[in-house]
Amino acid sequence: MSRHAPRVTRHGSNRICVIEGDGIGHEVVPAAVEALRTVAPDLEFVPAEAGFECFEKRGVAIPEETWAAIDASDGILFGAISAPSEDVPGYEPVILTLRQRLRLYANLRPTVSPPLPGLRRGVDLLIVRENTEGLYVRTEWGDEGSAVALRVITREASARIARLAFELARKRRKKVTVVHKANVMRKTCGLFRAVALEVARDYPDVEAEEMLVDAMAMWLAKAPERFDVVLTPNLFGDILSDEASVWGGGLGMAPSLNLGDGPPLAEPVHGSAPDIAGKGIANPVAALLSAAMLLEVGLGREREGKRLREAVWAVLGAGYHTPDLPGEEGKTVTTAEFGKLVCAYLRGEPWG
Ligand code: NAD
Ligand code: IPM
Ligand code: MN
Repeated sequence: MSRHAPRVTRHGSNRICVIEGDGIGHEVVPAAVEALRTVAPDLEFVPAEAGFECFEKRGVAIPEETWAAIDASDGILFGAISAPSEDVPGYEPVILTLRQRLRLYANLRPTVSPPLPGLRRGVDLLIVRENTEGLYVRTEWGDEGSAVALRVITREASARIARLAFELARKRRKKVTVVHKANVMRKTCGLFRAVALEVARDYPDVEAEEMLVDAMAMWLAKAPERFDVVLTPNLFGDILSDEASVWGGGLGMAPSLNLGDGPPLAEPVHGSAPDIAGKGIANPVAALLSAAMLLEVGLGREREGKRLREAVWAVLGAGYHTPDLPGEEGKTVTTAEFGKLVCAYLRGEPWG
């Protein structure tokens, strides 16, 4: 799976670089760190600063000491950053810089039906998002009258993400949906599609289907349970993962893991959520499940990763929820309270 073999520190434990980032990152990440500490007490945590708040305060979005902390880590737990829509000279969205500089070429974004009232059962899909190219090479030029963006697709990056998608499908329900828009972007999406279908030939045991991204958006809303692994270029993966998150209970529930050459980086799919930041009501489940992915997939600590996911599921199953989720009013909890319930479950203490 990951080409990144977990590095073991001299103490024999894994070291996690913790970047809260901006907005609700400061609320959901501490809950995830506490849960990690509880399920895997040997872990070491190294806090590091990065993001828009850091840029405004220090004039740099990712300080040198943060790069040093990342270099010395086996994994990264990342909250969220703010990325303003207007141009801010000198600022680049931190998460993109991290993905690209650490060559984290894959972004795994699963959606699973949670034990919540009123939600559709039977959804279990995994978006495998190419993370390094497409429109995300961020090469644009223009003036007030016209603007152009460069979209880069290479055989190498397409083959590497396709292989990962088919490998992952082998361990799941053995189906990959290749999403593209090759009917319009014949060269770029055409290459992504062609390479994915070439790779598919090496996996005769895995069913490969292709789907145009507009139809995909419809089927994802209409019949999400028909998908297993969804292989997509960068921007489509960004958009489709927010759409898919609805079946998992919304953005507050959607985890992700970035994999590649550098240390695995776990991050919720959601952003810094300025509309709710500072209120203590952000849903920590996306961050908790991202931490579970970091353990299970990123660090190969499967037992602890599964246990953490089981704890989150148990607390949700008992009806506890942050206000973004449906449920009984009497069981509405804050970010920190949800985190404490997960830790109590993990410690085997009375919690319900
Ligand atoms: P967002 O994901 O921050 O929020 C979208 C909506 O979902 C908001 O209504 C928010 O309150 C809700 N939401 C998100 N996470 C939640 C949680 N954990 N619990 C409860 N509700 C939650 O997207 P946005 O508002 O479009 O973007 C805000 C900022 O975040 C922007 O600057 C954007 O660029 C940035 N962003 C960063 C990341 C990242 O760091 N990976 C991802 C997406 C957006
Ligand atoms: C995500 C985010 C980022 C992306 C932004 C903040 C740059 O939306 O992680 O989904 O577009 O990849
Ligand atoms: Mn996004």
